[in-house]
Amino acid sequence: MAFREYRIGCIMFGVCLSVSMIVTIFLPSFDISGTSSTQIALEKQLTYGWESAFNYYDPFLQGKDKPIKVTLTKDPRTGAKIDRTDAYVFKPGTHFPDGLTHDNILGEKVQAASASTGRIGEASEEAGGVFLVRVAADDTPYIEYATATRGWTVDAVLKAADQQFLAGSGKTLFVREGCWWCHTLLPEETQDWQTFGRPPMTGDFNGESPTTFGSDRKAPDLLHVGSRNSSREWMTMHFFNPRLVQPHSIMPRYDYLWGDKDKEGNLIDLKAWDKEYMAYAAGDLIYPPEVPIPASDSEARMLIDFVLNLK
Ligand code: HEC
Repeated sequence: MAFREYRIGCIMFGVCLSVSMIVTIFLPSFDISGTSSTQIALEKQLTYGWESAFNYYDPFLQGKDKPIKVTLTKDPRTGAKIDRTDAYVFKPGTHFPDGLTHDNILGEKVQAASASTGRIGEASEEAGGVFLVRVAADDTPYIEYATATRGWTVDAVLKAADQQFLAGSGKTLFVREGCWWCHTLLPEETQDWQTFGRPPMTGDFNGESPTTFGSDRKAPDLLHVGSRNSSREWMTMHFFNPRLVQPHSIMPRYDYLWGDKDKEGNLIDLKAWDKEYMAYAAGDLIYPPEVPIPASDSEARMLIDFVLNLK
């Protein structure tokens, strides 16, 4: 090829590079702090609490200092039947998410509604409290401090709860265990839609730290996994040993998150389990060994709660 063509190529490359740099530099900047929180952002803040990364309050990433998400079907104060409601319980001393403690996280309208109708200004970390996510008549989502507005105390709500999810603690384990090496929490604006569901919007992330988007994807996106697979039994088996439900899975086993004892208080003997599983894998047994049900304060339970809450 003649020298001339090389020269044209070089010039064209230079022009394209310059144009792209100019666009990058002069593109009007987008002020992310001006974005209003969506309902999803409010739910996430109240589910996960303050940041779930390496910090002074939970240096070993054990899922400490986190709220509990509960579902209610009766009013914890009066006992009257109510529509199924999610509530977020912060025991005294649990750190609040930034949205509750900083004025510029929720977005102007959401902040105003949360402060006036929701009375969040009355809440304090020392006293703890119970929060709800509500939607105003004009579609503005806001946070309600139910301890002030309805007299729902931490103890009463925990007692009245149908289910308790340790999803906030579970997110910390998602970070610690490095699930994000393989899984993303970020469906893309491509045909991803069809498999993994709606991509997030900017306002979904107000106050969330870290966002756990993932590095690159070697496994299914999990942002909405709880919507397509809500089986606690499946999750329990899959985390204990993914090969029980997906014969050729590359996902590691997380059986060590079960700790020493199962839900009934029986000792868990991983060596004996393995031995039986190997016999099953070799075809000497018809059924695989049973997977222990995780204890209610085990790390396995936290992680499963987190995953099932990704709706
Ligand atoms: C080495 C890569 C890898 C790591 C690390 C990993 N996974 Fe997976 N995961 C997979 C693959 C591959 C699948 C697809 C199903 C299968 O093979 O088991 C999967 C499936 C899943 C599913 C079911 C997805 C669906 O679409 O139904 C969940 C939930 C899940 N993983 C959660 C986790 C969590 C939580 C962690 C961290 C504790 C984790 N995974 C760590 C590779 C991984």
